[in-house]
Amino acid sequence: MPAISFQSVSKSYPSARSGPINALEAVSFDIQDGEFFGLLGPNGAGKTTLISILAGLARASSGRVKVQGLDVQADYAAARRRLGVVPQELVFDPFFNVREALRIQSGYFGVKNNEGWINELLESLGLADKANANMRQLSGGMKRRMLVAQALVHKPPVIVLDEPTAGVDVELRQTLWQFVAGLNKRGSTVLLTTHYLEEAEALCGRIAMLKCGRVVALERTSELLKAASSNVLRFKIDSELPPEFKGRARVTGRIVQLPAHDAHEIERYLAIIRQAGLRVEDVEVRKADLEDVFLDVMAKHGETAAVVSGAGPSQDPKAPSGGSAVHEVTSVGARPS
Ligand SMILES: Nc1ncnc2c1ncn2[C@@H]1O[C@H](COP(=O)(O)OP(=O)(O)O)[C@@H](O)[C@H]1O
Ligand SMILES: [Mg+2]
Repeated sequence: MPAISFQSVSKSYPSARSGPINALEAVSFDIQDGEFFGLLGPNGAGKTTLISILAGLARASSGRVKVQGLDVQADYAAARRRLGVVPQELVFDPFFNVREALRIQSGYFGVKNNEGWINELLESLGLADKANANMRQLSGGMKRRMLVAQALVHKPPVIVLDEPTAGVDVELRQTLWQFVAGLNKRGSTVLLTTHYLEEAEALCGRIAMLKCGRVVALERTSELLKAASSNVLRFKIDSELPPEFKGRARVTGRIVQLPAHDAHEIERYLAIIRQAGLRVEDVEVRKADLEDVFLDVMAKHGETAAVVSGAGPSQDPKAPSGGSAVHEVTSVGARPS
């Protein structure tokens, strides 16, 4: 029996101005027991909508969703008990301290004598010295840890994390992944959405990619990586790019990255640069990673392959260093969230 089963799930939101928004269109896939599964997609792809339907926070317009065989509508309470959901938005009750909030959450799921597990969660998530702090006093990163603790307080077998590391510093990301990977090793199923493709590549055994409410890729991570253009030519440039590269290059400030299938294609790119008389620096060739695959897939299912990245998805200027964030894929039909 799959841990999670999405069967032809569609969702449309009414909208007065432009007609209904089809947030999900016939999404079908299963996540097997014990998998670490990644759900990727640009903003507005429908990831949170799919998770909200799974968690019973939104209703599908059609289709069925099951958690360990339990229908999320017909068997709402039983299905919900199997799930630990870390929501994308920071929501919390400001009136309690950390430990109280975890006790209340335990009670909500009918779990008694939970102090041992609560202590373990506080310890593992680096919240132990904040146990008596009021929720209002927690920093953003601490609140995020608290959301994870709250989601796991009833020891759910299926864990769902909706962008848990958005705007979170490197240290917390590492703590969090160590902890969640440990739970997965001990048998928990994990469904993760993230903008950090490095994380998804390292953690997820299988990945589904959503675009405009449809599944556009669903593969083992290793297969996705094999199917990509195998190399990427990367360099820095101060002048305008030659027109041949437009629509093909990923540009981040002065860094340009060009997917290339083979040495011949790399030579051709270098010849174009030479003929245009352009000065480039720090030229290197690297192997394609999940970010390249993601951009490839998104471009194939959109109108343009041109990608220009800004500061990444994080709103927190102190936050992430190191991780590669998904750049906004500019394509006709992509909706903002
Ligand atoms: N409550 C809502 N009412 C109307 N439209 C919504 C609502 N929630 C999401 N949407 C729309 O549904 C689409 C998918 O959004 P969402 O599931 O949040 O995407 P993601 O999590 O992948 O960024 C977007 O076009 C978004 O604007
Ligand atoms: Mg979302």
